[in-house]
Amino acid sequence: MGDVAAVPVIIDCDPGHDDALALLLAVGDPRLRLLGVTTVAGNQTLAKTTSNALKILALAGAVDVPVAAGCDRPLVGELTVAGDIHGESGLDGPDLEVPVGGVADVHGVELMRRLILGCGEPVTLIATGPLTNVALLLRRHPEVAPYVRRVVFMGGSTDRGNTTPYGEFNIVTDPEAADIVLRSGLPVTMIGLNVTHQALATTQIIEEFRGMGTRLGVICADLMTFFASTYRRVFGFEHPPVHDPIAVACVIDPSIIATVAVPVTVELVGAYTRGATVVDLHGRSGAVANADVAVGIEVEAFWRLLMAAVRRVSEV
Ligand code: RIB
Ligand code: CA
Repeated sequence: MGDVAAVPVIIDCDPGHDDALALLLAVGDPRLRLLGVTTVAGNQTLAKTTSNALKILALAGAVDVPVAAGCDRPLVGELTVAGDIHGESGLDGPDLEVPVGGVADVHGVELMRRLILGCGEPVTLIATGPLTNVALLLRRHPEVAPYVRRVVFMGGSTDRGNTTPYGEFNIVTDPEAADIVLRSGLPVTMIGLNVTHQALATTQIIEEFRGMGTRLGVICADLMTFFASTYRRVFGFEHPPVHDPIAVACVIDPSIIATVAVPVTVELVGAYTRGATVVDLHGRSGAVANADVAVGIEVEAFWRLLMAAVRRVSEV
């Protein structure tokens, strides 16, 4: 991979089948230095997303990566988990019995603060769940902002939603948090459903995981097989979209996605549209661009990146 210095990142996640692949990609690609993982309530409760993050990192041989649990509910309103998609555990499908590392005895927001201020160079925050922890970090600790290189989040969409007609799950779960992040003035990249729905874990992909001949490969295949069953039942998808690893892949290789710099606002009060990302693709609002929004993806290059990382981790 050449001698380019690895990019320091923190992943804030709600594992979650696709979050699991995001973590494996971050651990397995040498172009990233995973400083730490923070967990948030979203796909499942905080206790379950935290336990799941620990399991995935242990399976990846990365028990040295610090993990801290963050917020257990959105800033406003109540949590609604996605058990219909990710199952009761949040990672239904495979047998994930594995000895895990411990959880840091600090809140996830405090771990983020310490890692960012202690890194010695700007840190990229990659969020693959509701933005509650990231928003709280920026509100509680504005002193970290100069040391945040970019916030890359999976969430929203330039078109329709998946949780409400116009709302994507991560944003609908905590619209106020997304609003805080998008108004922060930090460099922000938004990876929405309009792009992630193109990265489908097809039968061929699942068989490639299974064909790796490793326990981790089989686990990834079983995770995607379960994810395929719920996406087929709930959304009528033939194959499940792996949303979250795209947010990691574009930090590793920015050419994986195409983006446009446009204004994005979050609908907070719409009776039917609360949590929608209002992406002004044609400059109709006259507002200043506040996000780089993904509008295209090199799907084959993305899968090659992810598969190579999982193979690398499987050899641990
Ligand atoms: O809408 C998809 C997003 O919501 C993904 O991050 C998935 O893991 C869930 O968190
Ligand atoms: Ca997620």
